Amino acid sequence: MKIAIIGGTGVYDPRILNNIREQEIATPYGVVRFKSGEYAGKEVAFIPRHGSNHSIPPHLINYRANIWAMKKLGVQNIIATTAVGSLNPAMKPGDFVLIDQFMDFVKNRVTTFYEGGERGVVHVDVTTPYCPSVRTVLADAAKDLAISIHQKGTYVCTEGPRFETPAEITMFAKLGGDVVGMTNVPEVVLAREAEMCYATVSMVTNFAAGISPQPLTHHEVLETMQANTENIKKLIMAGIERLQPDTDCVCKHALSEYGGFTL
Ligand code: HPA
Repeated sequence: MKIAIIGGTGVYDPRILNNIREQEIATPYGVVRFKSGEYAGKEVAFIPRHGSNHSIPPHLINYRANIWAMKKLGVQNIIATTAVGSLNPAMKPGDFVLIDQFMDFVKNRVTTFYEGGERGVVHVDVTTPYCPSVRTVLADAAKDLAISIHQKGTYVCTEGPRFETPAEITMFAKLGGDVVGMTNVPEVVLAREAEMCYATVSMVTNFAAGISPQPLTHHEVLETMQANTENIKKLIMAGIERLQPDTDCVCKHALSEYGGFTL
């Protein structure tokens, strides 16, 4: 199994895949239960990040277990989805953003597989945090499908689970953030440490707090996601068709200075 989909809020349904099976895999961080299936002649794993009924809040997701499990399975390419609020007037509810940078404002999460001791200390490079090859695949897939997608964007990751204050949103906008969400850190960082190719399609579900004329609700986030599920599904399917997980990529050598990632 070389491809995985990590579905964010509103993306819980593995039925883009055929012959779906339930699987579980043990990791040093706990057991990961996920679904797997086939599409376009490829074996694909599917993990709904928040659980299949949105029962796991962003700060309690077992990010390390999820990425470790995918690595153990042999996954090389990950397409992730995230629901985001927008700080950028050009990125409107319903729009897709192929994020290319992140800012890390999380507070209580371990964001590495390397905590000293036996595994040692690693300082991974994240100059290009999202895989350029998978991003190109997604951009091309969107073009083919005539789905408009912002070609880049800076994702601000907050701790959550609360939404932000308008003051925080003003600060993030001044710093150059485009969209805000609660889950991409540490997922993207762990995937890079594990030398996997990882890219995220963000779906704008709302304008962020203080920009939106009314208070934010999770209902609004879900409603926008639902209205756009068909396009997300199509984009993921076209992405899976195009991915060539065995192709070499810079991401696969992220820890070469340290002798590579080991499970
Ligand atoms: N803030 C943080 N996370 C989000 C938002 C938001 O406005 N919308 C969807 N996920």
